[in-house]
Amino acid sequence: ELLADGDGVRGKRVFVRADLNVPLSGTTITDDGRIRAVQPTIARLAQAGARVIVASHLGRPKGAPEPAFSLAPAAARLGELLGQKVAFATDTVGESARSVVGALGDGDVAVLENLRFNPGETAKDDAERGAFADRLAALADVYVGDGFGAVHRKHASVYDLPARLPHAAGGLIATEVGVLKKLTEDVSRPYVVVLGGAKVSDKLGVIDHLLEKADRILIGGGMAFTFLKAKGYEVGSSLLQEDQIPVVQDYLRRADERGVEFVLPVDLKVAAEFPDLKAKAPTHPETVPADAMPAGKMGLDNGPETCALYAAKLADAATVFWNGPMGVFEHPDFAEGTRAVAQGLIDSSAFTVVGGGDSAAAVRTLGFDESAFGHISTGGGASLEYLEGKTLPGLAALED
Ligand code: 3PG
Repeated sequence: ELLADGDGVRGKRVFVRADLNVPLSGTTITDDGRIRAVQPTIARLAQAGARVIVASHLGRPKGAPEPAFSLAPAAARLGELLGQKVAFATDTVGESARSVVGALGDGDVAVLENLRFNPGETAKDDAERGAFADRLAALADVYVGDGFGAVHRKHASVYDLPARLPHAAGGLIATEVGVLKKLTEDVSRPYVVVLGGAKVSDKLGVIDHLLEKADRILIGGGMAFTFLKAKGYEVGSSLLQEDQIPVVQDYLRRADERGVEFVLPVDLKVAAEFPDLKAKAPTHPETVPADAMPAGKMGLDNGPETCALYAAKLADAATVFWNGPMGVFEHPDFAEGTRAVAQGLIDSSAFTVVGGGDSAAAVRTLGFDESAFGHISTGGGASLEYLEGKTLPGLAALED
């Protein structure tokens, strides 16, 4: 709407809340997917003559500047992608931000330093967040929310700032919500969900919800061991959340009642210790059946039979949602389970959605062509909370 209205944004200072929370190794961005995803919104606003102010968080600094969490590398990458100079403010609402924003001409772009260097951004106290949102609002005329990865956070720049400025949702948020709506409202069946990652506790809400929606749930990664233990198997020294075993047992029982198929690994790659992800030296893993894991060994990836089983369980799907890697994919000895699931998504004729965070980074770092998937979300926690049916503060704030 802002863009359709002719000169609507020309000369206006447009604050774009993006999610530039990209993985870094030192100052090198190891996956720029989130920057590429929001770049079209920024480019369209700049082309329409807006003075674009891009803001984001990166990592979890504790309300004060920490050089390791600077957004400077992300600003530089955004400039490369846009093919134009991007100014960088070394603070968020201070002198540098005011002077950088004041110097913007029509069509120029600036990035502010990490929002979370200010305690007000993440404050639980409404007044403290509000005071920080007031200072952000003073920098801009219009707000565009396009940081989908952060819409589940009730933070000043996500929730309080849009109430203080004329606001709109950006193209990335519109796309993400459109895709996730399809999964919640009129999903084509069979609907297969693949869940991995380290902790089962991060996925409890979504599993609870999916027991009412999905036809089949495939489990992998660190969280699989709590399920295997709940079935009575020994899991050696693998990651385990003992306190979640009764919850998981209840899920398995409910899945049975509802005719939802829960699929767990049948074999695993195990090693004596967690691999060194920097040196990536060979670890000589063993493959063992899931019901005969040796004491003192930890499961770090799906075994070959599980890879084949999961590929078969994906083959006839009409819709697939995948969140969380199947193993320690950052080490070549333990990447196969994650690779096999990615390939299974590609080989099926289903509409496939890769839910953000680690799984999105995994498909890119393992060298898959992004266009082979239906949609790769930029939101990890945000897409899970959307699927749980929760109200997301950053979306609610844009709705009126
Ligand atoms: C993410 O990486 O999921 C988002 O950028 C949100 O980050 P957070 O979990 O630190 O709030």
